[in-house]
Amino acid sequence: MILKDKTIVITGSAGGLGKAMAHRLGKQGANIVLSDIQDEKLQETVEEFKKEGINTIGIQANVSKEEDATKLMEGAKKEFGSLDVAILNAGILRDGLLIRTDKETGEIKSKMSIEQWQSVIDVNLTGVFLTAREAASIMAVQKSGIIIPIASIAMHGNSGQTNYSAAKAGVAAMTVTWSKELSRYGIRVAGIAPGFIGTEMVLKDMNNEALEKWKKIIPVGRLGEPDEIASTAQFIIENDLITGVVLEISGGVRI
Ligand SMILES: NC(=O)c1ccc[n+]([C@@H]2O[C@H](COP(=O)([O-])OP(=O)(O)OC[C@H]3O[C@@H](n4cnc5c(N)ncnc54)[C@H](O)[C@@H]3O)[C@@H](O)[C@H]2O)c1
Repeated sequence: MILKDKTIVITGSAGGLGKAMAHRLGKQGANIVLSDIQDEKLQETVEEFKKEGINTIGIQANVSKEEDATKLMEGAKKEFGSLDVAILNAGILRDGLLIRTDKETGEIKSKMSIEQWQSVIDVNLTGVFLTAREAASIMAVQKSGIIIPIASIAMHGNSGQTNYSAAKAGVAAMTVTWSKELSRYGIRVAGIAPGFIGTEMVLKDMNNEALEKWKKIIPVGRLGEPDEIASTAQFIIENDLITGVVLEISGGVRI
C-alpha cells in the first residue's frame, strides 16, 4: 500500500508509541486520525501536528467502550472518505504478582486484584477486539485495509504481568485469526510486539528496579526508540505480503 493520502487511525496516540507512529506516517502524506482517552493531551497533539503540516483530526475515544470504537472508525471514514489503516495501540499497565507472601511468616500478603486484572483486559484485549471489529466492518465493504494490533514481547508470559501478558497473548492470537478470516475482503492483519521502548509507559509506569534489570540484558544494550516501532508500522503498510504475523521488535530481548 502506498502511504500518501491514505487514512490511518491510531488509538492511544496522544503520546508515546502511538504519537511516534502517527508522526512518521503523517509526515509522509497520510491523513492521520489521532485518538486517545485523554482529550486535552489529544488536542495538544492535533495542534502540534497541524503546525507541522500534517493533515490530521482528533477523535476522543475510550477503546474499551463499544460506542466509542464505532464513533472513531466511522468518524475517520466520514472525514476522509476511506479507512485504510487502523493501528490498535492504546494500552495500559497495572503490574503486580499473582500472589505475594510475607518473607518471614510465609503468609499471603497480597493478591492481584480483580480490578487490576479487569482494567488491563478491558483496554488491552477488549479494546483491540472492539476497534478491530469496527475497522474491519468498514474495510470489508471497501475491499481493502490493514489492521495493525500492538502486542508486546510480554505476550510470551512475563513475571509480574499476569494481566498484561494474558491480554497481549490474546492480541497476538486475534491477529493471526483475523488475518485468516479477513483476507477474503482484501484486509491484511499484522501485529508488532515491541520490547522495551523509551516511552512514558516504560519510564514512568514500570518498576525502576525491573527496568534496570531488563536494560542489562537487552542484547543491543539500550531501550528502543519510538521511531523504530513507527518504521516497523510503515514496513507492514508498504509490504503487501505481510499478514498473519506479529513482528517482535525488541533489540533481541526474549521473554
Ligand atoms: N513502551 C514500550 O516499551 C512497550 C512495549 C511493548 C508494548 N507496548 C505497547 O505499545 C502501546 C503503546 O504504549 P506506550 O508505551 O506508547 O504507552 P503510553 O502510556 O505512552 O501511551 C498509551 C496511550 O494510550 C492511551 N490510553 C490508555 N487507555 C486508553 C483507552 N481506554 N482508550 C484510548 N486510549 C487509551 C493513553 O492515554 C496513552 O496516551 C501499548 O499497547 C503498550 O502495551 C509498549
